[in-house]
Amino acid sequence: MLDNNHRVINYLRLSVTDRCNLRCIYCMPEKGIRFMPHSEILTYEEILHIVRLSIQKGIRKIRLTGGEPLVRKGFISFLERLSKIEGLEEITLTTNGVLLKSLAVDIKNCGISRINVSLDSLRPERFFRITGRDFFERVWEGLEEAEHVGFNPIKINVVAIKGVNDDEILDFASLTLNKPYHVRFIEIMPIGDKNIWTTEKFISAKEIHNRIQTLGILQPIGHNTLDGPAERYALEGAKGEVGFIGALSNHFCDNCNRLRLTADGHLKGCLFSDQETDIKTPLRDGKGDSHLLNLIMDTILNKPKDHGLLPYNPRKCVRQMNSIGG
Ligand code: GTP
Ligand code: 5AD
Ligand code: SF4
Repeated sequence: MLDNNHRVINYLRLSVTDRCNLRCIYCMPEKGIRFMPHSEILTYEEILHIVRLSIQKGIRKIRLTGGEPLVRKGFISFLERLSKIEGLEEITLTTNGVLLKSLAVDIKNCGISRINVSLDSLRPERFFRITGRDFFERVWEGLEEAEHVGFNPIKINVVAIKGVNDDEILDFASLTLNKPYHVRFIEIMPIGDKNIWTTEKFISAKEIHNRIQTLGILQPIGHNTLDGPAERYALEGAKGEVGFIGALSNHFCDNCNRLRLTADGHLKGCLFSDQETDIKTPLRDGKGDSHLLNLIMDTILNKPKDHGLLPYNPRKCVRQMNSIGG
């Protein structure tokens, strides 16, 4: 359906857990994170119910996120049930890849169309510094296994952080010459009160684009209706693609097609807004579907027009990224 700003809302991002097996510096610090009590997290049954209702309001694509979705118990059987629901054109998954090696084949067999893997460094010791865990090899093997079982394309999300991994931008872009990966560079976002975000660490999509142009011409590639916010390009002769997610600098809000459901059952119209609709309480109180459908509709209609952030004047939203799912 359309929101009050005439945008088509057809993409639901579902965070199934706030737990994670990494501790990325821009998301979850080692200490001081308060996890949601298990009783507050939506059961799979509840999530499936909300998904069925959201389809009635025009949702056609689901992306599963976390925390790290693969750490939640019973996730594969949940995927099987989700993929049997009629009315969805695409079910996709964003994962940090740590558990991908053993699960890629099951995920594929459940009918998941595509996966996105987060990977901020190609150097094991730096991977450890960014994520707090020595799991680079596991993620790399996970990527290879995902390729082996036939996921195509595989998108790699690189959060670009000045002074931390920006010297690897050309290495990541060069990876697309020989591998069919879509490498997307994401501007670091000021989300959650534990975030390391500062203007000094920020590097814009434009600057990354300019640096990659030293490797060769970047040919633009068109956008599909169910796509997320990346601007897509390919280096000449490359097997893969390069993408830019200008989360702060490029206000793609005019074309935003997304709604979010947090692990504890709150609908969000915008990643950066603390405006939320609690759908879990009425669901648990036994309110009927027409009431719940109205809540979904109201969230869509009242989706904020834009996030209003500027790279030099960011407001940090309160909820932690690991409970929204990006
Ligand atoms: P596909 O195009 O289907 O692959 O999805 P996607 O790029 O939306 O998914 P993914 O989970 O890989 O997200 C990549 C990055 O884009 C993450 O850092 C997200 O936080 C960011 N992102 C996704 N949606 C939004 C949004 O609405 N606003 C902003 N600012 N960033 C977003
Ligand atoms: N800024 C930008 N991207 C982030 N992600 C998590 N936190 C941030 C942040 N503060 C990314 C992850 C993952 C995606 C879902 O969101 O790296 O790829
Ligand atoms: Fe885990 Fe993703 Fe947060 Fe990293 S960014 S700590 S992988 S939820």
